[in-house]
Amino acid sequence: MTAPLTAPMTRQDTAKRAAAAFALDRFVEPGMRLGLGSGSTSHWMVRLLAERVRGGLDVVGVATSAGTAELAREEGIRVLELDEVDGLDLTLDGADEIDPELRMIKGGGACLLWEKIVASASERMIAMVDESKTVATLGAFPLPIEVIRFGWRSTRRLVETVLAEADVDGRTISQRHLAGDPLLTDSGHYILDLGLGRIGDPEALERQLRRIPGVVETGLFLGIARAMVIGREDGTARLVEGP
Ligand code: 5RP
Repeated sequence: MTAPLTAPMTRQDTAKRAAAAFALDRFVEPGMRLGLGSGSTSHWMVRLLAERVRGGLDVVGVATSAGTAELAREEGIRVLELDEVDGLDLTLDGADEIDPELRMIKGGGACLLWEKIVASASERMIAMVDESKTVATLGAFPLPIEVIRFGWRSTRRLVETVLAEADVDGRTISQRHLAGDPLLTDSGHYILDLGLGRIGDPEALERQLRRIPGVVETGLFLGIARAMVIGREDGTARLVEGP
């Protein structure tokens, strides 16, 4: 998922790295408590941040996944648990899709619960994406939802009921697997991926899904990102601020 800084880069890697570098330059200041996102774009950010830490930048990080915590520690960044800090100044994280209102689908890496908790504990959350992630309407990327293992088939039936009434184009539900087994999140839950094609009303869908007791969290991040940094394949990036 994450290429080392020295590996040959794909054009998409170049764009992701450009977004990460821009976000660090623009938003990170000495003394900050930082939420560290998950996924390949965030891992570029962690590695670039670590270069700055080795150069004397004083920051602490709170990771949005066990994988990011491990990488950040390996790279020499001081990593604390969320409960060891009294709030965060900034979270930098990637996205699977982001629309012009900065509404996002996240959770492609199955880290959506910790990502939403960390982003919500932060004064600001900035999304770092390559151009392929920007969309007019959310939903082409399957929407992950994190569900409790107990009674998950019953939860799935309730999700089907919600989708039957929702303003969406597709209604498939698949349990995410890893190496042949159901994937377990860092919190020990399952992920269901909802193939919706188009989400006409993300706020309504979020409300309906969150009413189901076995649904712990959804990958719809609404009203959370303050801005997005879009990396381009030529290695440049631009900032789009929220409405
Ligand atoms: C992980 C996420 C990631 O931010 C999202 O999947 C984007 O990943 P990448 O930067 O590898 O494209 O939400 O749960």
